[in-house]
Amino acid sequence: MVGMWPSDVLMEMFGTSGMTAYFGLRQCGPIMPSDTVLVASVTGSVGSILAQLARTAGARVIGLAGGEARCRWAEAHLGIDACLDYRSPDLADHIPIAAPDGVDVYCDGAGGPLTGIAVGAMKAHARLFAYGSSAAFFAAKLDPPKQRLPLRQHFGLSEAIEQQLQRKHIKTECWIVDAFYHERLSAEDELSRLLLSGALKPINTVVEGFDKLPYALVHLYDGGCRFRGKPPPNSVLMPPPCSED
Ligand SMILES: NC(=O)c1ccc[n+]([C@@H]2O[C@H](COP(=O)([O-])OP(=O)(O)OC[C@H]3O[C@@H](n4cnc5c(N)ncnc54)[C@H](OP(=O)(O)O)[C@@H]3O)[C@@H](O)[C@H]2O)c1
Repeated sequence: MVGMWPSDVLMEMFGTSGMTAYFGLRQCGPIMPSDTVLVASVTGSVGSILAQLARTAGARVIGLAGGEARCRWAEAHLGIDACLDYRSPDLADHIPIAAPDGVDVYCDGAGGPLTGIAVGAMKAHARLFAYGSSAAFFAAKLDPPKQRLPLRQHFGLSEAIEQQLQRKHIKTECWIVDAFYHERLSAEDELSRLLLSGALKPINTVVEGFDKLPYALVHLYDGGCRFRGKPPPNSVLMPPPCSED
């Protein structure tokens, strides 16, 4: 593997992000061409792989991203069918238009208010992959919980949402990826095959030079948007463009 792939691909696709996406979809699978898969944080490291994997399974894939520009980027580079701005006040009305038959699988790396809206659009007996809480992480105001929350709550599954999941008989996958590390060789084989066939594209930002480390770190945590500094000349920027707001 080390001979086949550059270090950025090894770290992303064969690291935490790729493994989380691979096992998340596998556990929610089999993903069928008749499925509509809604992917939150589709511009994120895990979400961009989840969306591509769902697409290779033939599903209809709808992404959620922060703003028009990022949505257009996701449609163009991830080959997804549609992308919606999760910040739109009318999101709850837009999802059923993009997914007229309802949502079969929701991949949720965001948590926050989005989870309730997406679960509302899910069919009975649908599958939910709750794996992260980027909404809380990227919130303008950090509100750390007084005690360590159970994982499901930490990933945004409140009591009200748990009741909705029960009512709709929605199967939920919620774990930390190391639960599957004993199976990682089979995941590496499959991801490697998809990469070689071109069905899966690595999407990374590479910033070269130790002196560029401060830029790279800030870029990592602000999605490249809030920090308006010019990227260093030798960086290869492949993430979505910033929203204008
Ligand atoms: N369970 C596990 O084992 C596991 C493994 C890996 C990661 N995770 C967790 O999964 C989450 C995502 O990780 P990542 O590496 O993919 O993150 P990332 O690359 O930093 O991407 C963050 C994503 O969050 C989106 N986002 C930011 N604020 C949001 C909001 N208020 N509502 C909805 N989406 C929002 C961003 O969308 P825009 O930029 O388009 O606004 C972006 O796509 C993190 O919480 C991480 O800790 C869990």
